[in-house]
Amino acid sequence: MQSLITCVLVIAFILPCFCYESNFRTNSAYSVIDYGAKGDGKTDDSQAFVKAFQSACKAQGTASLVIPSNHVFFVSPLTLKGPCSSSLQIQLQGKIVAPSKSAFGQYRYTWILITNINGLTVNGNGVLDGSGSTWWPCKNCQRPSVISFNSCNQLTVSYLNIVNSPRGHLSISNCQGAHFSYISITAPGSSPNTDGIDISDSKNIFITYSKIASGDDCIAVGGGCSYINISGIDCGPGHGISIGSLGKHYDTVSDVHIQNCNFTGTTNGARIKTFSDGSGYAKRITFEKITLSQARNPIIINNFYNGQDAIQNGVQVRDVTFREFKGTCTDDYAIDLNCGPTGCVDIVLDQNNIVSSEPGKKVLCSCNNAHGKATNNVPDCSCLKP
Ligand SMILES: *[C@@H]1O[C@H](CO)[C@@H](O)[C@H](O)[C@H]1NC(C)=O
Ligand SMILES: *[C@@H]1O[C@H](CO)[C@@H](O)[C@H](O)[C@H]1NC(C)=O
Repeated sequence: MQSLITCVLVIAFILPCFCYESNFRTNSAYSVIDYGAKGDGKTDDSQAFVKAFQSACKAQGTASLVIPSNHVFFVSPLTLKGPCSSSLQIQLQGKIVAPSKSAFGQYRYTWILITNINGLTVNGNGVLDGSGSTWWPCKNCQRPSVISFNSCNQLTVSYLNIVNSPRGHLSISNCQGAHFSYISITAPGSSPNTDGIDISDSKNIFITYSKIASGDDCIAVGGGCSYINISGIDCGPGHGISIGSLGKHYDTVSDVHIQNCNFTGTTNGARIKTFSDGSGYAKRITFEKITLSQARNPIIINNFYNGQDAIQNGVQVRDVTFREFKGTCTDDYAIDLNCGPTGCVDIVLDQNNIVSSEPGKKVLCSCNNAHGKATNNVPDCSCLKP
């Protein structure tokens, strides 16, 4: 009897909750197909994308912009601009293809611009194809990137595949609080300036578990960045993970932590590059637990990135740690710390073990105006003085 009463009471209290939930929950899906997208790979679907986005953006509650699988959407340069009243998700399941160079139209710095949306989530294992091969032969052309997130705070992006960008693949600017994971970026090692991920003027950015193969930096951390954490990146081919280039303007980068990454067949590995006539700083930067396989120059600081030798102020490089790099390099110099007359200070090299990919060949460490502490390194780096 008692259990019957309990049961009735439970039902009486729980059931209304379910009804309430189903009546008032607003998790609506806005499929681009319902807004007229053809998904045949030929028809320009950009207007359908914009209309579906606008409806999803002004909805109440959670709304999903759905780009369904088993379709190829041909899309002209596109801007998805907030703010949105909804808590917006973009479910990218299908493939989106960019126009070729001749059909792209007026120059824009990016093909897809997502701007001014807070709390956005992007997921699904769809593909963004930048049609880069139509652009690469023209190295001096102004070429667009594939996708840019600008002024998006509390952003989450996962399982995105980006291929063959005309220039950089993914750019993050003016964002605070973003988490990127399981991103796959693929372009040929010979494709010009095809950075994987470019970050600028952003704070509290996490990038994890991603695979990047490209013709330039796998990840580049540019001016105005702080609190950037990068881990679990499989990089190569490409130019490694870079801080910079810094100093075109007054540029500052601080509190960057890069760990558990693989550099396979990359030209560089961990690199800080600054212009000799620039100003600003790069400080509190750590690269650690890096596995190298035939990386050409695994550890580099270059204060002369634009080749000038006259340093005015220079970009100050301080408090930089390279720890537990292990594996092989193909150049004579495994470690090259080339600092301007103002010097790099508080550089730490600790427990690195980098050997030549040619059995029996020695590799070297070179220092120019570099100060700090070297402990337990192969190659020996006693050129680093206090
Ligand atoms: C790096 O390579 C090792 C050995 O091949 C592998 O076990 C590990 O998962 C790789 N890490 C990343 C981040 O790809
Ligand atoms: C992120 O990087 C900062 C240093 O910039 C470090 O103190 C912190 O532990 C890192 N967080 C994680 C989760 O790795």
